[in-house]
Amino acid sequence: MKFATLALTAALVLTAEGFSPAATNHGRSTTRLSSAVAPPQREAPGAGYVPEWEDRPGLSPEEFMASDMSKPDRSGMWECPLTRWDSDDIDVVKAQKEAAKMPKCPLEMRASAADNAKGAQYFADNKEKIRKELLKYGAVWLRGFDLMKSFKGHREMYEALGLDPCLDPLHSSGLRKFASERDAIYEEVNKPSLRGHYIGLHCESTTKRTAAYAAFVCLQKATEGGGRFLVADGAAILAELDTKLLQKLYDRKIRISVSNLDLPPSLPGILKEGVKGLVDAAVAPKFDMDLEMVFEADGKEGRLQAIETAEAPINRHPVTGLPVWFNNAHNHARKLRDRRPCGVPEVGMTEVFYADTLEPLSLEDCQEIKRASEKHITALAMEPGDVLLVDNYRALHGRDVFQGDRFHAVSWFTWDDKEEWRGNERRIVEKNALNQAINSMMDWLPKDFESNQS
Ligand SMILES: [Fe+2]
Repeated sequence: MKFATLALTAALVLTAEGFSPAATNHGRSTTRLSSAVAPPQREAPGAGYVPEWEDRPGLSPEEFMASDMSKPDRSGMWECPLTRWDSDDIDVVKAQKEAAKMPKCPLEMRASAADNAKGAQYFADNKEKIRKELLKYGAVWLRGFDLMKSFKGHREMYEALGLDPCLDPLHSSGLRKFASERDAIYEEVNKPSLRGHYIGLHCESTTKRTAAYAAFVCLQKATEGGGRFLVADGAAILAELDTKLLQKLYDRKIRISVSNLDLPPSLPGILKEGVKGLVDAAVAPKFDMDLEMVFEADGKEGRLQAIETAEAPINRHPVTGLPVWFNNAHNHARKLRDRRPCGVPEVGMTEVFYADTLEPLSLEDCQEIKRASEKHITALAMEPGDVLLVDNYRALHGRDVFQGDRFHAVSWFTWDDKEEWRGNERRIVEKNALNQAINSMMDWLPKDFESNQS
């Protein structure tokens, strides 16, 4: 019985953001680290560029959520494609020089009255140009478009651009909730329980699966402030990072732990092994990741961590060949999370390790990743109708804390012009029941949930 509870708790926490709420407070009560050590100060992270809000009006939820029922149901979309790793034999110094030549990300494209009058036709007419800019800049901020103030218009936009939807890389975990399943639109992390949680930079990627592109849309900005969407160019971060650190991380590689399960240290070894075996066999496969269950990698007695396989922190872009910082450490490193607004229960806390020794990244290395990343963050003032198109192998994204209610949504896309990269896997619809069950449990989370990790 106890094992089942633990396994279920673990089942609720693995996400690409590396966190998620456990369904109850159960996960919190078992997880305090030593209370003798004072927790570090928490400070809101910075951003290199913070554009002003313009306060453009949006539609009411009834209006923006309406789907065009005359269009076909897209819920049988593609699986998220497998990650395209191309990270061997990279000359770090050369890579930094090459990456430094890239233009500032994101490119801003503003709708004129004439553009808006064209509706979806604007995107059909400018498809080639916009897709080319996306590859060149890593992200394109479409500002002031009336079309995308609704799900219906968002779908018309991505269809006009020839983008082909796929599942979230962690769809099978059941943690990703659709905003409009028939339009292939997921809800972003808008839950009131997580509005006080800063989501650091990450690509929508696991070692195993990575979406090719994304379109993030604002339907309603946060009613009481905050909630800026964050984007940063992986090329700019690569160019910015201290070369010695970059070389070290490239040589040693990294591994990411996506969940902590704290067992009582007094639990007999045979029972610990039993839990490990159970989680490994029954829970981990649901996450469609290559995970290894490891005891006490971060030094905490009795802690079982689910750790992804080793990966390089630099990867060449599949289309352009440009080497970029393709890595989720800014979001996942524990030492950074512990120093900023964080609403993750201990069971969902992530960590980043040097792959060769499985030691957590040092504070000094984390601080350099933070500095280089945040210097290149644009903290977008997204208004209703704004869309951020992201090349997910190039630019990283995140979200600042917010107050009040906010409604942003996202669609993921696979390779639309390369069948062999896309693969032939379609959505496995049986997974629905698990998704819905877990999501409905998550809705029970208290508002303004705060974790008690130290
Ligand atoms: Fe994300």
